[in-house]
Amino acid sequence: MQRRAFLSGALGAALASLYARASFAQSDSHMMHMAPGSAGMSDAHAMPGTMMPAPAPLAAADALSTGAPLPALRTLANESREPGHFRATLVAQPVSRPLLPGQSDTLFWQYDAGAGTPDLGAPVIGPLIDVREGDTVEIRFVNRLAQPSTIHWHGLPVPPDQDGNPADPVAPGAERLYRFTLPPGSAGTYWYHPHPHMLTAEQVFRGLAGPIVVRAANDPLAAWPERHLFVTDLKLAADGTIAPNSMMDWMNGREGQFVLVNGALRPDIDVTRDERWRVWNACSARYLLLAFDDGRPFVQVGSDGGLLAAPRGNLTSLLLAPGERAELIVAAGALPSRARLVAAQYDRRKMAMMGGGLPAEPTRALADVRFAPGVGTSGVATPGVVTSGAVASDAAGASPALPAQLRKIAPLSPFRARQTVVFSEAMDMKAMHQPGASALSMPRGMQFMVNGATYDPARVTLTSRRGEVEQWSIENRTDMDHPFHLHGTQFQVLARERGGKRVAESYLAWRDTVNVEPDETVHIATIQHDAGERMFHCHILEHEDLGMMGTLRVV
Ligand code: C2O
Ligand code: CU
Ligand code: CU
Repeated sequence: MQRRAFLSGALGAALASLYARASFAQSDSHMMHMAPGSAGMSDAHAMPGTMMPAPAPLAAADALSTGAPLPALRTLANESREPGHFRATLVAQPVSRPLLPGQSDTLFWQYDAGAGTPDLGAPVIGPLIDVREGDTVEIRFVNRLAQPSTIHWHGLPVPPDQDGNPADPVAPGAERLYRFTLPPGSAGTYWYHPHPHMLTAEQVFRGLAGPIVVRAANDPLAAWPERHLFVTDLKLAADGTIAPNSMMDWMNGREGQFVLVNGALRPDIDVTRDERWRVWNACSARYLLLAFDDGRPFVQVGSDGGLLAAPRGNLTSLLLAPGERAELIVAAGALPSRARLVAAQYDRRKMAMMGGGLPAEPTRALADVRFAPGVGTSGVATPGVVTSGAVASDAAGASPALPAQLRKIAPLSPFRARQTVVFSEAMDMKAMHQPGASALSMPRGMQFMVNGATYDPARVTLTSRRGEVEQWSIENRTDMDHPFHLHGTQFQVLARERGGKRVAESYLAWRDTVNVEPDETVHIATIQHDAGERMFHCHILEHEDLGMMGTLRVV
C-alpha cells in the first residue's frame, strides 16, 4: 500500500531532482566510493543540473582501525559518602579528539564528570551511572555547549520536572540540578541523553549519550560477570569533522559509516566464562538485529526495564531498535571458538527521495568475539567486582544454571482507558527541493506526525490519569519502521496487529521503546504514577526533532 503522501510534488521540481535523488541514495548507501571533493552541505556546491548541494565527502570505511580490545566505559564517581545517595556533576562540552590520522582533531560534544576535565583516554560515551534501587540521585548538569540542552533519563521513572523535557531547557553556560529517587523494582539498563527542542539529534550524534545501570539488592544473576556494550553510530567526514545531516539523514534517520561499540570500531572481546551482556542501542536511527555470524544461540534475560519474568533461550537474533536495551547471557561454550557479533541485515524500509524504498542495510560487524572457556582473563578485574567493558571474573568460576524464573512481573490490568497513537508522514517534494532546503538547518517539506500533527510545545496530545492502567494502540500508517518511546514509565507489550490479525506477545517484559512496523499496530499496557507532562515520540532522533512527538498530560 502506498501511504506516503506527496503534498505538492510539482512535476518540474520532481523531474529536476531525479538526478539528485539517485546521487543522494548512492552517497548514503555506498559512501566510501564517493569521489573526494570539497567541504560540506553548507557550501551548497551544486550537482550538475540540480539545485541540490553535494553531500560532504565522507571518511573511508577503513579510516578507523579495528581489533583493539573492547574499551572500558568510564564510571561516574559518587561524590556522596551518605548511604543511599548518589551525587555527581555532568558537564556537556565540546572536546576535540585525535581520530583520523593526518586530519585535524574531531570535535565531539561529550559528557564529562566533575570539573569537566575531559578524559581523552576513555571513549566519548558519557560515564556510566551505576546506582541501586532506593538511591537518591542528584546530578548537577553544567551546559558548556553553545546551545540549550537538557539531560533526559531515558526509561527511568523520574518526576516529570526532573526528566529533561524540551520544555525545561538549560541555557548555554547555565546549570541545573536533577534529583530523583529510584523506586524498588526499577533495576535495569537505562541511558541518558539530551532532549532539547529540535536539537536532540545533533547533540546525540556529536557524542552526548551515556549508560545507566540500576541494580537490585538481590539480583538473581549477580554471579554472572557483566559486560557492557554501548552501541553508537558515527558519520565522519573525510576531513575528520562530524558530518552534518543530509536530506536523507533527516528523512530516514542518520546512519554513519561507522558503528561503534564502546566507542571502538569492531573491537575484540574475550569470553572465558558465561557472561551477562548489557547492550544499548544508542544510535540515532540504526536498527541492530543482534546475532552471531555462526548462528550460535544466546539467551535474553532482560529488556529496557530490567529482568524478564523468565529467560528466553535459544535466540539466534534479537532486534534492538534505536533507544532499546537488552540483557543477554552469552555462553563461553565447551571448546575454544570464535564468532563475529553482527548487526544482521534488517530492512526498516527506508525511503528514497521520490518515494519508493532503499535497499536494506547490509550486515555489519560489531565485534570479534573469542570464546576461550576456562582460560583466565589477563590482569582484568578483582573477583566479584563489576567493571565496565572489561569483565570481572574469578578465573576458575563456572556459572550456575540460569534460574527458570528471573522475577515476578504481574500483567498490568484492569484497563481504565484507551489511547491511540498514530504515526503518519507527508513529504512536500516541492519544498524539499527548493534551494537551501537541505542546508544544515532542519529541512522544510518533511512532516513526521503523531495523531495528524507535528509536535507543538503548546499542545497536549493525550491526557491520562495517574495511577490508572491504560491500553495504548500505536498505529504505524507510514511505509517505514518507527520505534515508539514513552517517557516516565515502563510498559508491557500486549500484542501486535496487522490486517486484523492480532498476535499476542509471547513473553512478559518491561519496556519503554518498541518498534512498530508499517501497517502494524502495537498494543501496550501502561501506567503513569506522577502528574505532569511526559513526552512520547519516535526514537529515530531526526523524526523526533522533525515533530514525530507528542505530549502526554498526566492529571
Ligand atoms: Cu531517549 Cu524522549 O528519549
Ligand atoms: Cu526517554
Ligand atoms: Cu520515525
